[in-house]
Formats: sequence, structure tokens, C-alpha cells
Amino acid sequence: MSTNTPVSTHKYFTTPIYYASGEAHVGHLYANALMNLYRNFYHLLGSETLRLTGLDEHGEKIEEKAVEAKLTPQNYVNSLEPRWRKVFADYELNFDVFVRTTSDAHKKNVQSILTKCHENGDIYFAEHEGHYCIDCEAFLTDKEMDENKLCTIHKKKTELRKEGNYYFRTTKYYPKIKELLLANKIVRQERYRNETLSMMDTLVTDLSISRPKSRTSWGIELPFDTNHVAYVWFDALPNYVTGIGGVENAGSDPFWQNATHIIGKDILRFHAIYWPAICLAVGIPSPELMVTGWMLSNGHKMSKSLGNVVSPQDLLPYGTDAFINFAMRQNNIGEDFDFNLKTYLERYNADLANGIGNLASRTFAMVEKYNDRKIPGVSKELIQESERHLFLKCEQLKSDIPGLFESFSQATILQRIWEIISLTDKFISDAKPWDLAKADETKAKLFHVLGSAIAVQKCIAVFAWPFFPQKMSLLLAACGVKDSENPKGLWGSLESPSAFAGGFVFADVPKLFARVEIPKVSLNPDAQVSKTPTVPKISSKGTDAVKIGAGDVEEPSTGSHIDLSDFAKVAIHVGTVVSAELVEGSDKLLKLRVSLGDLGVRQIFSGIRAWITPESLANQKVLVVTNLAPRKMKFGVSEGMVLSADKSDGSVSPVFAPEFMLEGSRLS
Ligand code: MSP
Repeated sequence: MSTNTPVSTHKYFTTPIYYASGEAHVGHLYANALMNLYRNFYHLLGSETLRLTGLDEHGEKIEEKAVEAKLTPQNYVNSLEPRWRKVFADYELNFDVFVRTTSDAHKKNVQSILTKCHENGDIYFAEHEGHYCIDCEAFLTDKEMDENKLCTIHKKKTELRKEGNYYFRTTKYYPKIKELLLANKIVRQERYRNETLSMMDTLVTDLSISRPKSRTSWGIELPFDTNHVAYVWFDALPNYVTGIGGVENAGSDPFWQNATHIIGKDILRFHAIYWPAICLAVGIPSPELMVTGWMLSNGHKMSKSLGNVVSPQDLLPYGTDAFINFAMRQNNIGEDFDFNLKTYLERYNADLANGIGNLASRTFAMVEKYNDRKIPGVSKELIQESERHLFLKCEQLKSDIPGLFESFSQATILQRIWEIISLTDKFISDAKPWDLAKADETKAKLFHVLGSAIAVQKCIAVFAWPFFPQKMSLLLAACGVKDSENPKGLWGSLESPSAFAGGFVFADVPKLFARVEIPKVSLNPDAQVSKTPTVPKISSKGTDAVKIGAGDVEEPSTGSHIDLSDFAKVAIHVGTVVSAELVEGSDKLLKLRVSLGDLGVRQIFSGIRAWITPESLANQKVLVVTNLAPRKMKFGVSEGMVLSADKSDGSVSPVFAPEFMLEGSRLS
């Protein structure tokens, strides 16, 4: 097979460093899964690799959380760090460097970058007034707020701030950044490149990079003014060079010359504009970005206030391979995809248990039965059209995979691998080895068929190793590959299946993926939007069939009852009435604007005018059905329904939620 893939000697992959302001959810694991996938592929190619992840531990938001938890900020982040590390360990999402922004090495690095920029004249002091979103930890542009000055991502009120801060001359570097972008450096994904270029047209001011200690002291002190700390993003972005020993090393470090930052699309501007500007200012190359979409839950980015967070703990019983298979298979990098437990489990069964797992166990079991576990080779004279076709598919995929990784198309790689798996299944069924085994004169053909099927599986094991390293190492070992646990550089020496010689005696039939029994009822995807998603528990692990406890499944409904999954289809959220007004031309309707936390502010027409005045609704908490299809009315679109009920005096009133109920929280 062609092996002329250009291999860079070093590859450095980084994830964003996560805010140490709460627990990890499964969306956070996506970047770490991609980092491991890419690292593993380059490891197979023979490159030296380095992986970095970590925690972003400074800033106002974290200080606020620490106050709530009645801890010092340092103790607060110290308490979270082991929890994040545990989640990564549970999911076998490995890393070589774990950066914490409160570490001494990181503080030193940030101060060194600040000093360099200050000495270059790239930092100046000025007064600024703007709207600040504490969750974004950023001053927002008009485009990033709605007409009520709510942040469009967090749907939260921004704060108008006027303060004296230090500024970094980002705009000085705009021409060079644009040049790099247009030359396809920094962002190779067209959609995100264009998004960056258009953001640059709106973000025409320099970046404020400090906060006065009077506002927050939880940050890294500016080396040239001890009354200020560094702005959290100017503190966080340099973590990537902290990981290779600091900015002084970046100019010559081979990992830095081949660095890729894996980031979510929501933090594009920080990585595609501000970070390149900082790199240019300190004279180091600007890494390329791999921009990812989001893992959604019921159509929305996972978020605590929306109640649609899927916790890593809930999916852990199904193992890391189920997670990787789902997250990598649903969509190519850059696109969003929805989390759905039913699909999650079905994919696992179809692709892993019934797919590669079943193919390997049936083929190796036949070799055990018919040839005493000695793997036969492919016989060149016996190759027919069906094998030729299969071998060609392997050769084509081998030559396409490097390009598919380069173009961020990992889901396509998996689809193509699984196409080969089903072709191999069909090849075996058509060749009927069990019939060939009946007569001596068909034994040569029998061995050739089994040898061919294993030759293809050796290719599959190599192609799929970056995704499922542990299980594919078992398959490689069964195929007779030495150092199967650490197949560094194996890619180059992978022969065409037509050249597979066999001869190896394997120890055991590889048992790769246990099946999960999927209940027929009540794994309704919509039911997953609840604070704790109902993930059935597994009663056994390992290589036996994995069963879901019967008690975890709702019985089908009878008569006029509905079952829980029907109820769970209705999304009801707590909202605050921001404004209420009479609708001209209607004697029944009030027009309400209701703020629903992460769902934003919705316009709702409610037929309660006869019983309630608009003034008495202002700032009240109400209950809103939020997933009704928007209704086009004569007076505008109604985007939900306010729940109301009859009162004892015969009038009707909205159902008011108590004040302590969190805006945006979902009723469950
Ligand atoms: N601390 C900053 C990053 C600093 S990097 C120098 C930050 N932290 S974060 O915890 O809010 O988000 C970290 C990353 O997690 C972002 O890239 C974000 O896109 C990603 N994700 C958060 N929720 C996600 C999903 N539901 N799906 C996929 N990625 C998700 O921003």
C-alpha cells in the first residue's frame, strides 16, 4: 500500500483549558476525545506527540463561585481539579501536560509575555466604557447582545462598566492576521475563517487586558502595575506555551511549530484574533485551529441552567468506546450534533458489538476450529473479484485517511471503515467457509478466505486504532502484530492485504465489544432533557452481553394514561415577565416578553387580558411551555404558552412560580 504520507516529526495538540467553575459535562469531553484521536493517528504515523489540557482557574466568575462555596478561590479551584482529572481518567482521555493557570510556571510565563508586550509598546492605559458579560468574561460588541443588552450566548444581563484598564494593541496586528487568514493559516475551515474575517470588521478596538484589583484580585498581577491583574483571557491563552516550557522556548520548540489548538466555535475570536496577535507581538508562530461544533442536548448547547446537561458519570457504565464512537461518528469536526441516548446505544451495538466485534470473533473462531488457531495467509493465485474489491477498498482508505484527518473529517473515516466491515461480513457469508471446511479439496480455498478476512481486519485494526486504541491493540495482537499495545509508526509498514502472509498462532479469540440490550420502550430522546438524564444502569460489564436493568424502563402506558416519556416531551420552564402590554385590536390578548434564562427572551401572546393588568405581571415569575411550535398570529409570532388556571372566583390567572425558582430552570 502507498506509504508516501508526509509525516511531520512533531505534533502538539491542545484542548481549551476549562473554567474551574463547576463540574465537567460530556460536551467538555469532546475536545479531549478529538485530541486523543489526532494524537493517536500521528503516533501511528511515527511522529513525536504532545497533548495538553488543563484548567482556567482565575477570573471574576470563579471568584464569585468561591464566595458562594464559602472557600478561598485557591481552595475552591483546588477542590475541583481532582474531579476534572478523574473524569478524564475514567474516559481514558489521556494528556501529557495538565496546565493550571494558578501554577507558578504559568504565572511566570504570563508575566514574561506581558513584559515583552509592554516593552514593545504594545500595551497602553485607557478608560473604557462597555457592556460586560461575566460568563463570557468579555466586553461584548453590539452584535453579541440583543436589544435588551442580554448576552446572546448566555442570555444574561450584561453590566455597563466604565473603568481604566490596560489595552493590548490587537488592531496593530490586524493586517498581518488577515494576511495569515487569507493564506489559510490559523483557520483552515472556510466557514470559521469567514466568520473570523467578518468579526474583525466589527471588533475594531484593542483588547482590554487588565482588571483593577478593586474589582477583582483573583488573577495574575501585571508586572508593570501591581494595582491590576491580567484579564482572564490574557491569562488563559498563554497556557499553550506554558505547556512547552514558556514563551522563551516557543521560537525553537518543534512542538510549537506543529501545534494545533482544538477549540469550540464559541471561543473562536479569542483564538483566531487575540491569540495570534499576542503570538505576533512576542514573535512566535501562531498555531492552527481545529474549530469544533457543540454536542447538543435536545437541540441546545448543554448548560446547567437549561437542565440538559449529560453527566459523564451517567454514561460511564457504557464505557469510553461507546462515547468515542458516538461523538466521532455523528458529524465531522465543525458541525453540531445532538446527544441522544437511544442512538448512542444503537450505534454502539451496530458499529462495535455487532460490527467489528462480531466480525473478529466469528473469523477468529473459525480459524480456531479449522486450523488450530494458526492464521492462514492470502493465496495470490486464489484471489477473486470479491477479495480484490475488498483489498482495493482497504488500499484506497489507507491513502485517503491522512487527507481525511487533515480536512477534519473523522466521521467520514469511521463510515468508510464500517463500509469495509460490512463488505467483509458479506464476503465471509458468500464464501461459506463452513461448507469449504467439509472437503479436503476445498481446504486451500477455506484458508485463503479466512486469511483474506483477517488481512482486512488487520487493516481495520490499524485504521480504527486512533479511535479505539485498547480494543484495536487486542485485534492487532491477534493478527500477529508485535508491540500491538504501542504501534508507533505501524502505519508505514502496514502491507496491502493481498500480501498478508499469516502464519501466526493467536492465543485467544478476541472478544472486543459486549452488546448492550436496548429496551424497546421509553428511551425517548426528548426525555433526556432533565437534570439527571435517565440512563439505564448496566448489570454486568466485560465481555458478556451488557444488560439494562428491567426496573429502569417504563412500562408501556394503557388506557388514558400517558407514560413518563410523553410527559417529558413537554418542556416547561420558569420565566420572568420582562414586559407586558395590551395588544391593540384585541380584547383578549396581552403581549408578554418573558426571559427564560438560556432560552433567551421570548414574545408570547396570552389570552388573559380580561383578568389581569399588564402592570401586575411585570417582573413576575411564570411557567412557560417552551417547546410548542411558534404560532404566527395576526399581531406577531407567539413563541410559547404561559400556563394559567381557574381561580375560585371564576377568573383566570397565570400560574406564578415562587420568587426563589431559578429563571430558565425546567420543570421535571
Ligand atoms: N476557559 C475558557 C477557554 C480558555 S482556552 C485558553 C472556556 N472554558 S469553558 O469551560 O467554558 O469551555 C471550554 C470548551 O468547552 C469550549 O471550547 C467550549 O466550546 C467547549 N464546550 C462546552 N460545552 C460544549 C458542548 N456541549 N459541546 C462541545 N464543546 C463544548 O471557554
